[in-house]
Amino acid sequence: MPEMATNQLTRQLLRRLPQRIVQLLRELGRSADEKGIGLYLVGGVVRDLLLNRRNWDVDLTVEGDGISFARQVTNRYGAGLALFERFSTARLVFPDGLKVDIASTRRESYADPAALPDVMTGSVEEDLFRRDFTINAMAIQLNLAHWGALRDPFGGREDLKDKTLRVLHGRSFVDDPTRIFRAIRFAERFGFRIEPDTARLLARASRTNLVARLSGPRLANEIFALMKEEHPDAAIRRLRRLRLLRFLHPRISPGIQTERLLAVLPQTIGAWERRWAELSLDRPLLWVMALLAHTSAPVIAGTIQRLQLSATESRALEWAGEKTSRIAKILSSDAFLRPSQIYRLLSRLPNEAVALVLAKGLVSSSKAVGIARLKRRLTRFLECDRLTTTTISGDTLKEFGLRPGPHFKKILDRLLDERLDGRITAAAEERDRARTLAKQYS
Ligand code: CTP
Repeated sequence: MPEMATNQLTRQLLRRLPQRIVQLLRELGRSADEKGIGLYLVGGVVRDLLLNRRNWDVDLTVEGDGISFARQVTNRYGAGLALFERFSTARLVFPDGLKVDIASTRRESYADPAALPDVMTGSVEEDLFRRDFTINAMAIQLNLAHWGALRDPFGGREDLKDKTLRVLHGRSFVDDPTRIFRAIRFAERFGFRIEPDTARLLARASRTNLVARLSGPRLANEIFALMKEEHPDAAIRRLRRLRLLRFLHPRISPGIQTERLLAVLPQTIGAWERRWAELSLDRPLLWVMALLAHTSAPVIAGTIQRLQLSATESRALEWAGEKTSRIAKILSSDAFLRPSQIYRLLSRLPNEAVALVLAKGLVSSSKAVGIARLKRRLTRFLECDRLTTTTISGDTLKEFGLRPGPHFKKILDRLLDERLDGRITAAAEERDRARTLAKQYS
């Protein structure tokens, strides 16, 4: 398409952004004109405008000193400013909450593969050249005289049309191994094919040990980003085919059981979110738990350590394996179970672990009646028993002359069990029962 027509098109696309953003971009374009510097919208938002996908992450890059431009804008608008000088980037937060990231165009030299890059200023083309894929290496100029001009030196627009993911040069994955995961993420998200040379480079980079050099948090970030996408199961299949799961732990190799579990996870999550929307579910974490569901405790512990997961994430992940399989089996069985027994099985589980119990039950129970039993029991627990409490507390036990100690918990647990099982229904009844139990322990 001739340049004029392309620019006409991108100008139209810019209008798809919310009015507030368009207006701000125009004002920033004018400020850049006043300073005589180039200003560009870059990265994912440009790609998504061309794809007609919603994305309001405003990433700007300044041909020159982004930080001093950001400072100026901050003063003019009374916006908040966070500086990341090591990367010559700044984040502006406007009074209405709108966030804008401003960087300086730069070229990079990677001191060491997998390390964070050293930064030097450069032209906008050089800035685009350091990026991961052609579809992410486009910029739209915002200076008013060139408003809407598309800079696309590597054919990103053509690749978007051909649904193709392509790196800009042969060292891309070596320069930044997180791109190995980003390639999978974008290919899956957009349904793009990975261009053959890029696929070869990807396979080669995956065979080397580059990923092992990523820090725990950086690797975790990429894994969770994949799990946040719409079809994490497809991404996991690619991770397996490329033998990338070994970087989480050398002994993860999902078999048919795990495949089946991953296959029922979308329906499990869907059902959970329809019925128990108020019980938050960390979906990406649940996917990672399912991925590890048929591994041993040491493999789970090793993965937690490798990814340096937070305490909450680790606590959930510890339920991924055998423990939830056993609970799913018991809850699907035809054994008689009192509500209190079910409560004791489930009460310490984070929501993701309860959801995993449901998914495991769906896969492993061969009979519909087992699945129905499991669903009934989980529903009762989540909607009712989970919220049950005793009316008396430790203080009441003290009133009865009992000295605090481990037996307090025993008595309170016992009272809760009797409530759950319907043996105690009224507060007065519970008090009497507590008095009797207190006597036994005094
Ligand atoms: N980028 C890159 N290499 C990376 C990470 C980022 O080249 N390892 C560049 C790409 O140009 C990318 C931009 O930085 O478009 C912004 O990165 P990020 O916000 O992570 O990605 P998006 O493309 O915006 O993707 P998403 O839609 O998932 O946020």
